[in-house]
Amino acid sequence: MDWKAVAQLNEQYQSASAKEIVAWAANSGLRLGLACSFSAEDTTLVHLLARAIQTRPEARDRLFVFYLETGRLPEETLQTLDQCMRRYPELRFQAFFPDREAVEDLLNRKGAFSFYESIENRKECCAIRKVEPLKRALSGLDGWITGLRQSQSVTRASLPVVALDADHGGIIKLNPLASWSEAEVYNFIEENDVPLNPLHKQGFPSIGCAPCTRAVKPGEDIRAGRWWWESPEHKECGLHVSAANSSSDATSEVRS
Ligand code: ADX
Ligand code: SF4
Repeated sequence: MDWKAVAQLNEQYQSASAKEIVAWAANSGLRLGLACSFSAEDTTLVHLLARAIQTRPEARDRLFVFYLETGRLPEETLQTLDQCMRRYPELRFQAFFPDREAVEDLLNRKGAFSFYESIENRKECCAIRKVEPLKRALSGLDGWITGLRQSQSVTRASLPVVALDADHGGIIKLNPLASWSEAEVYNFIEENDVPLNPLHKQGFPSIGCAPCTRAVKPGEDIRAGRWWWESPEHKECGLHVSAANSSSDATSEVRS
């Protein structure tokens, strides 16, 4: 798909509901992976994808849920994974682990908490545990689906619903919840009895790896608990990197 087709799709679907966008994905014939961190946004999408597959079972071969099992995920996230697997047997859930030798080498050289010591060390760990496995997860796919939302940070403010992801070989990137508020996500979860990562009720609006995520205080930014020891301009793990993640050259998502 070229950027023109993607821009056209974005135009067509930017005001559509998340359900319509996921239904389009299921009917598109494209091979797509839903990138799932088992946060509230992502279990919302798991639910929508499961419903879309129920109405179109043959799409099951082309659509799946994948998660980057960094080796440092919180217990609660893994519990949410199991809950989702039980609740949505129609979906395929696929784990992507980091390269074993790369993790062993990192641990042997720098120990288990090198990410607190410098931004370079933190990015090195994210590159090994997240970015490289993501590349593997996306290889052979026509596109991916994410739970990114515009209101999560200023850098996501112009996030399109449909984007061309040049960082991963020009595949399509669907962000069906782009325009959703945090309240809409929690309402959807409540109304549809969707599995909710227990950490959300313990003050974690945003959830990543256990050692790099903490609860926020009332009034703090929703991403304040992610890599809290770093200044905001460095909070980028490399999953959603570049200005190329846009529906055209004009719109961009700069970092995550
Ligand atoms: S991050 O770049 O800061 O880590 P964030 O936690 O906001 O990203 O999540 C944004 C989206 O990235 C999620 O909705 C999900 O689609 C994807 N994502 C994040 N972490 C993972 C993970 N461990 N496995 C799969 N997808 C993930
Ligand atoms: Fe490593 Fe922390 Fe990045 Fe997870 S979030 S990959 S533990 S640096």
